[in-house]
Amino acid sequence: MKLIFLGPPGAGKGTLAAKAVDIVGVPHISTGAIFREAIAAKSELGLKVKAIIDAGKLVDDDTTIALVKERLAQADTQKGYILDGFPRTIPQAQALAGFSVVEKVINFDIPDSGVLERLGGRRVCRKCGFNFHIVFNKPTTEGVCDHCGGEVYTRDDDRPEAVQKRLEVYRAQTAPLIDYYRQQGVLLDIDARPAVDEIVTEFKRSLGF
Ligand code: AP5
Ligand code: MG
Repeated sequence: MKLIFLGPPGAGKGTLAAKAVDIVGVPHISTGAIFREAIAAKSELGLKVKAIIDAGKLVDDDTTIALVKERLAQADTQKGYILDGFPRTIPQAQALAGFSVVEKVINFDIPDSGVLERLGGRRVCRKCGFNFHIVFNKPTTEGVCDHCGGEVYTRDDDRPEAVQKRLEVYRAQTAPLIDYYRQQGVLLDIDARPAVDEIVTEFKRSLGF
């Protein structure tokens, strides 16, 4: 199954995707995670995108589209994928339509207050990328990932100024994708406010798993 997870920053896309991979049996592809790995590796891509991401802006369409096109050419995506954080602009969605046919777009519906609460307390594993939260999903030992023992840190783009910018960018450039995909008849709205387990149940129900 070919799925897109669409929603504002901090809506819980990465958290649900980590659970959905076992339900759907397809890889989780997060453009944000790919960029963060490139930044950590100090690769050419990482050096190019670090300042943009830290400021809460979008990486340019050409770079992002090329990255996803290459990733979707790999064999493990033949049965499908969960694209988390791509597309984020209409040109990205149009480009994607040229190399893959998306089946469903899950639209994570959450007010700004929920986003601020989630991003304000998020902590991320530097090694495996798992998303913790200081209230809703604490690591057993502070600062240490339960899954791989990696260091748990606060993302640079979770600073309040960057979060405001990401919300502005979401409204201006990404939210128009809701109508774009609704008109194509592939959009499924999901209430992203409840606890993770409830969202997983709703996700399974709406997709027939
Ligand atoms: P990206 O990494 O995609 O960031 P984002 O879209 O801003 O989304 P987040 O990862 O912040 O939130 P999420 O929805 O995954 O929430 P999470 O599950 O962590 O992109 C980062 C940057 O890369 C972009 O700003 C841009 O610069 C660049 N980029 C990426 N893709 C791009 C593209 N296509 N084009 C151009 N540039 C691109 O949850 C958040 C917190 O809430 C966690 O602490 C979690 O534990 C907690 N939580 C989750 N669900 C629940 C729940 N149900 N109840 C309680 N707590 C919950
Ligand atoms: Mg994420």
